[in-house]
Amino acid sequence: MKTALVTGAAGFIGSHLSERLIADGWRVRGVDCFTDYYDTTLKERNVRGLASESRFSLDRLDLRTADLGALVSGVDVIWHLAAQAGVRASWGAEFETYTTINIQATQKLLEAALETNPTRFVYASSSSVYGEAPEFPAAEDSPTNPISPYGVTKLAGEHLARLYEKSYGLPTVSLRYFTVYGPRQRPDMGFHRFYRAIYGGEPVTVYGDGRQTRDFTFIADVTEANYLAGMQGRPGAVYNVNGGSRASVLEVLDIMESVSGREVIREFLPKQKGDPLHTGGDPAKAREELGFVPKVPLSEGLAAMNGWMKELLEV
Ligand SMILES: NC(=O)c1ccc[n+]([C@@H]2O[C@H](COP(=O)([O-])OP(=O)(O)OC[C@H]3O[C@@H](n4cnc5c(N)ncnc54)[C@H](O)[C@@H]3O)[C@@H](O)[C@H]2O)c1
Repeated sequence: MKTALVTGAAGFIGSHLSERLIADGWRVRGVDCFTDYYDTTLKERNVRGLASESRFSLDRLDLRTADLGALVSGVDVIWHLAAQAGVRASWGAEFETYTTINIQATQKLLEAALETNPTRFVYASSSSVYGEAPEFPAAEDSPTNPISPYGVTKLAGEHLARLYEKSYGLPTVSLRYFTVYGPRQRPDMGFHRFYRAIYGGEPVTVYGDGRQTRDFTFIADVTEANYLAGMQGRPGAVYNVNGGSRASVLEVLDIMESVSGREVIREFLPKQKGDPLHTGGDPAKAREELGFVPKVPLSEGLAAMNGWMKELLEV
């Protein structure tokens, strides 16, 4: 039986990945310190289903201070998803949280991993490393010009991962996720906020004119990409993980209106600093090297998320 270490296991993506690995017969050592970036009861809820699994364990430890040697010992594959997420909050005094978690803790984990020789170390990066990418769709070798402090820290983590592969042969693989959505999406993220507003009868806040486009990727597809990267990702490589369903915020709201059966009141506010106008990735490399083909179209993914939101909000 293979053993995985999943950092950030109580988070949005980490909890789905942990479930997927358990379903595939793995033993999963989860680690999460339940940061207060968002309501921790949501994180408790994320791991509720995993609690009864005998092959799942959860260490409530902070990667910044924990004995990482003990955590990585005996692990076959490491999926490093723990991070301080969020673009908008990364400016100002909060930046220190971003650097200590996203950069320093990542370096500590890479260092610890050298002692155990995992077959893969998968690092959760982000499309935010591209910033206002001059090329569409952005390929992995497109210029990286993050336009938020968060993006800078994710890119630093990616560079560290690559460096440990180059210098020490640690088989690291970085995945650049493009806006992930679905059940358990973080409450600070757009779709989650939209659904809350819709069911609360509140206006939906749209930054800018709503014509900004994103490459939205459904959680099950992101989980699959993580799995494939952990099995056959090329050491040292970086892959875009995107769903091929680029849509504008306005188009998303139209679908939400239809799947929720509620009227969407749209309220427009000025564009936020650090928010790129368009993000869109070239999925070719992940398809060719990982065999990753996203399967869930936006309408289906938004319907699934709608069901989860209704349960969460008890409506
Ligand atoms: N959600 C997206 O659309 C998206 C897009 C691009 C990249 N990412 C990356 O994917 C990863 C997962 O994102 P998510 O949306 O699931 O976020 P999330 O906040 O739900 O999950 C991250 C988890 O990491 C934990 N954590 C943070 N610092 C920690 C520390 N020092 N020690 C232990 N645990 C710690 C948090 O408590 C949280 O549960 C992150 O690395 C994020 O940067 C996410």
